[in-house]
Amino acid sequence: MNNHGFVSLVGAGPGDPELMTLKALRLLQEADIVVYDRLVSSEILDMIPTGVSRVSVGKEVGKHCVPQEQINETIVNLAKAGRRIVRLKGGDPYTFGRGGEEVLALKQHHIAFEVVPGITAASGCSAYSGIPLTHRGLSRSVRLITGHFKNDEPLDINWHYVADPDCTLVIYMGLSNLSQICNSLIEAGLSASTPAAAIENGTTKSQQRVLSRLDQLQSDVNQSGLKAPVMIIIGEVVSLAEELDWFQCALQESDFVEDTAVLS
Ligand SMILES: C[S@@+](CC[C@H](N)C(=O)[O-])C[C@H]1O[C@@H](n2cnc3c(N)ncnc32)[C@H](O)[C@@H]1O
Repeated sequence: MNNHGFVSLVGAGPGDPELMTLKALRLLQEADIVVYDRLVSSEILDMIPTGVSRVSVGKEVGKHCVPQEQINETIVNLAKAGRRIVRLKGGDPYTFGRGGEEVLALKQHHIAFEVVPGITAASGCSAYSGIPLTHRGLSRSVRLITGHFKNDEPLDINWHYVADPDCTLVIYMGLSNLSQICNSLIEAGLSASTPAAAIENGTTKSQQRVLSRLDQLQSDVNQSGLKAPVMIIIGEVVSLAEELDWFQCALQESDFVEDTAVLS
């Protein structure tokens, strides 16, 4: 294509560093520069070899997100300087990750790239909270939905289309609009007693899980004080969460062991 650098757009997975792909790990080890955003966990950043430059585009001073155009420009300029860049994004770059926009910017500047998928938060949170996304007899399909529109625009979703009792709804970025989401689904015909869950920091040691029902999820989330990043899962499959749990109970047991060790 040209003698520019090369960009690998890489999914880092949902948090647990062992959920990164082998390819992602190899690319981190071969990179000149890693450009990462705020959802990439510190354990994953610790896997970047010393000597590899790191550029954070997650937050600016003052805690505002870096505008996407500025991120695109940063990656393009680094690539034009002939470097091997890993653009590391939380989860999967093409699932609510704006990866497509970054790759389009690279294309415009004739910069070669590859895309390495990652485990998206929907898969990570569901597996680590005991909720299969599909289950024979409970769910026939899965829908990944954004619970937040750009520039805080009103949530213009066809709720009647989405309110399907045979479908698992997985809502990214839905915490701030949670009551509107739950109320709209109930108004559109989904039963108020539909099982619903909210998972904070899924797949990490600080994972927290709230199991509830559609009409009570907001108040249970308020009570538990969950903070972003939070994944919302709505549907009959959530009823399996207690029975299929393997991670949350292990976390609680390890907390218990630590507490006991402190006391003794
Ligand atoms: C901008 S989207 C990025 C999604 C990412 N590209 C992916 O594939 O998972 C950010 C949203 O993903 C969800 N999310 C990402 N990681 C999460 C985690 N570890 N636990 C819970 N939710 C998570 C939250 O809803 C968060 O607001």
